Formats: sequence, structure tokens, C-alpha cells
Amino acid sequence: MSLRAAVVTTVFIAACAAALPAVAADTLRALAQSASLRIGTAVNVDALNTDAAYARLLAREFDLVTPENAMKFSVVQPERGRFDFAQADALVAFAEAHGMQVNGHVLVWHQQLPDWLTQGQFSRDELKAILREHIRTLVTRYRGRVASWDVAAEAVAEDGHARETFWSRGIGPDYLVLAFQWAHEADPQAHLRYNDYGGEGDGAKSDGIYDLVAGLRRKGAPIHGVGLQMHASLKDAPRARDVRINMKRLAALGLQTHISEMDVMLPLPASRADLRAQAALYRDMLQACLAVLQCRSFSVWGASDRYSWIPEFFPGQGDALLFDADGRTKPAYESVRRILRALASSKRTGKTVKGQRH
Ligand code: G3I
Repeated sequence: MSLRAAVVTTVFIAACAAALPAVAADTLRALAQSASLRIGTAVNVDALNTDAAYARLLAREFDLVTPENAMKFSVVQPERGRFDFAQADALVAFAEAHGMQVNGHVLVWHQQLPDWLTQGQFSRDELKAILREHIRTLVTRYRGRVASWDVAAEAVAEDGHARETFWSRGIGPDYLVLAFQWAHEADPQAHLRYNDYGGEGDGAKSDGIYDLVAGLRRKGAPIHGVGLQMHASLKDAPRARDVRINMKRLAALGLQTHISEMDVMLPLPASRADLRAQAALYRDMLQACLAVLQCRSFSVWGASDRYSWIPEFFPGQGDALLFDADGRTKPAYESVRRILRALASSKRTGKTVKGQRH
């Protein structure tokens, strides 16, 4: 039986915001460490460079960071062969200064591609060479410093079939195997992940993602993990039980799993009832992760509501994260911390609690 799986079943969540700042031993990262879980967030590097309170919040609460945009193709290679690592370097230096792991994001994706690439006329061989060079340059630069990479993201369509993208059209279906191979060649120690949304629980897309990564394993691609993004709303969220079952079948393929980009958008202004329901959803998904040994990290897509992508993409929605726009903890933060705290204290005392790892 696993303590971390067991204790979460006994935790009752009183969803109320904390009035006091967390002391060091009671932060998410300190508590998660004793549960062998990484607690992560996406980072807005512009804000990191300009907002000291935001930087302090990141360093205090998280031990895993994913650049929200700073390592994407259009940022890193805005012109052919001209690489710009200013933002990525800043993020990696910040992580190193604060003992955080970095998850590189993202090597092969159909969004945020520069115009020179999407509007150029390239043969299949030229595109392969461009992608190989991009991956090799980025992964080599951060070899030994970026622990994991989202090698590919969102390559599965809503119906579970392969998504037709710039890369699949230009290179053909093998582009994913090649991308994993190229990343592995550049840093053989890095943990390589496939990352997608909408396939966290059950359904056609979850099955499509499972089939895709199973196929990659069969073909010998060096893939080690799957990120389940978990962009949710109160009306559209997977069931925790289905997430657990899905993680277990991925684990049976020999893959680690991650909740990689969680947020829960709410209609604005958010009501207290919605904030409580949001807290319960964060709690349920953290519990699902903790119930599966191979679930190694739990990341949110942004620390504070001030820098969330949600209001820009979903007007009228927001308040999706653990901290409000002023960096104050929300009920969702308290629910996550309560579970981690119970887990940490049961580990410390060695107390047996009822429940079973699934
Ligand atoms: O950098 C330009 C800036 O120069 C320009 O002035 C400004 C004008 O709008 O746009 C800036 O780029 C924006 C970029 O974020 C950086 O802020 C893009 O327009 C905007 O589209 C982009 O959005 C990002 C989105 O991915 C792109 O699809 C979001 O911040 C980011 O949170 C989101 O993250 C994705 C993950 O990578 C993959 N999974 C889903 C997740 C949410 O969509």
C-alpha cells in the first residue's frame, strides 16, 4: 500500500483561503518533496524579469518550471538559423538558482511556428533537416540542465485520429519517431514526453493518445512519459476515476505520467461557490495523480491569475489558478496544500492510514 495514495482518501477539504503566508516547510514544494512528487508551473518569462513578487512566489512554491512560451519555435528561431535564447536562458538560470527542475516545452507543435517556416517552400528532406537542427540545437544547449522535454504536443485530433499538421503534411507520419530520436541523441539522459489536452480521462481522444504512444514505443522511439494537460472548466472536466485508470494503462506501457498544464477556468467574476468547486477539482486531480506510482509531477499552467492565458483566449472566463492576481492563495491552493500536508505528515510519522494504492 502506498502512503501517498492512502492518505489522500482520508483528507477532508475545508476550502477556505489562507490569511497567512506559508512558512518554508509548509509550501507546496516542500510538502510535495516528501511525497516524491514534483510540483510545477508554467512560467511567463517577461513577468519573471519584471515582477519581483511573482518571481518570489514561483521560487517559494514550485520545484518544476515549464516555459509557457519561451522555448517555442517562433521565439527560439524567429529567423531561419538565427536562434534567440535570451528568454530560455533566463528561465533556466532562474530555475538553477532556486533548485527547480526545468521541463522544456515544446519541440514539435503545430502552433507558434514562425512565418519563415510556415510560408516557406520546403521539400520533405529540407523540413526534416530544419526540424532536426532545431531540436539538436535546443536540446544540446541545455543538456544536463533541462531534465525533461515535451518533445511533441497535440498531435492527436479530437476524434482520436492523427492530427494533420504542418509537420505531418511536410514530413509524413514518421515525424514523431524522428523527433524523439533526435531529442534523445542530443541528450540521452533527458526524460522525453508526449503532451496533449482533452485526453486525460476516457473517450476517443484518450484512446487515440494511448494508441499513439503505444505505437511510438513499439517503433522503438525513446519516449518516457505522457503529459496530460488538464485544461478544465467546472462544466468540462474528466472524472478523477477515469484519469486514474488512464494513467494506469499508460504506466503499463512503461511510461511515466504527469499532470502537465492544469487550470480550471471560471466565469468572471468568480463566485465563492465556484472557487470552492474549483478547489475540489484540483484536489480530485491531485489525488488521481498521487494514486498512481508512475505519476511523477503535477503542474499548473501559470502560478498567478495575473498571467494566465485564459482571459485572452476565453473572454469572460478566468481565475483559473492557485493564486489570485495579487499572489494571494485561493481555496484551490489550500486544497492542494492540505493533501500534500497530510501526506507529508503521515510519511514523517510513518502512521498507517486506510486506503489502497490503485
Ligand atoms: O510574443 C508576442 C508579442 O510579441 C505580441 O506583441 C503579442 C500580440 O498579441 O503576442 C505575443 O505572443 C503571444 C504569446 O502567447 C506570448 O504572450 C501570442 O499572441 C499568443 O497566442 C500566445 O499564447 C500562448 C498559446 O499557448 C499559443 O497557442 C499562451 O500564452 C500559452 O499559455 C499557450 O500555452 C499552450 C501550451 O503551449 C500547449 N498546451 C495548451 C496551452 C494553452 O493553449
